[in-house]
Amino acid sequence: MIEDKRIDLAKLPKHVAIIMDGNGRWAKNKGEHRIYGHQHGVTSVRECTEAAAELGIKFLTLYAFSTENWSRPKEEVDALMELLVQTILAETPTLNKNKVRLLAIGNLKSLPGKCYEQLQEAMAETANNSGLTLVLALSYSAKWEIVEAAKNIAQAVKDGKIDIEKISDQVIDENLTTKGIPDPELLIRTSGEHRISNFLLWQIAYSEFYFTETLWPDFKRAAFFEAIVDYQTRERRFGKTSEQLIS
Ligand code: FPP
Repeated sequence: MIEDKRIDLAKLPKHVAIIMDGNGRWAKNKGEHRIYGHQHGVTSVRECTEAAAELGIKFLTLYAFSTENWSRPKEEVDALMELLVQTILAETPTLNKNKVRLLAIGNLKSLPGKCYEQLQEAMAETANNSGLTLVLALSYSAKWEIVEAAKNIAQAVKDGKIDIEKISDQVIDENLTTKGIPDPELLIRTSGEHRISNFLLWQIAYSEFYFTETLWPDFKRAAFFEAIVDYQTRERRFGKTSEQLIS
């Protein structure tokens, strides 16, 4: 049951993307180590995933680990990877129960072997679920993704499989790791930072942005609903005038 009666179920975004930020500061505020913040961030991941699934949102993409995050202290990177493995292992039955399909985008081959294998297993186990698709961005950066797409398309041109004149938005879409996933209508960033941080640069061309001061471990079900309510007050014009939208 959706307790937030302000939400119009007929006007939901199909795809919500989230830059989960503020775990470190949340932990520091409590006099704890950064990893404590990441551990508590998992509760928010669980609550937002369940809330999105209950609402009937089709795609939720979470920026869990960026290419740039590899340069954090080794101890933190190792702890994040371990947390990922443990969370995926522990949550797969719940994902299945809630009909959630797990996908991952990013340079997955660069993940530690155990993490890569656990991810592949969970994706295979949830592949037939028809509810929400939860997309984890792991070792992901949008510039990396666009470079990879450019290389693929250049190779296709070289091989005579595509004419340069035929390269279009759609051809680029099909060569991104998000192939088959609609662009997010709503992008959320927590923790008061107003940056995109190399996330889904191509796909957010027309997304609505929602920034909140709330640190990720405090971003729970009610906060997720608040973001949806805010999104539903926006007028999405796609370059048109308000009058054109009414007529
Ligand atoms: C940003 O906070 C958060 C991350 C880089 C990692 C996000 C990971 C999780 C929430 C846990 C595992 C995720 C899944 C999907 C199981 P920060 O460390 O940059 O915080 P700060 O800006 O306050 O330092």
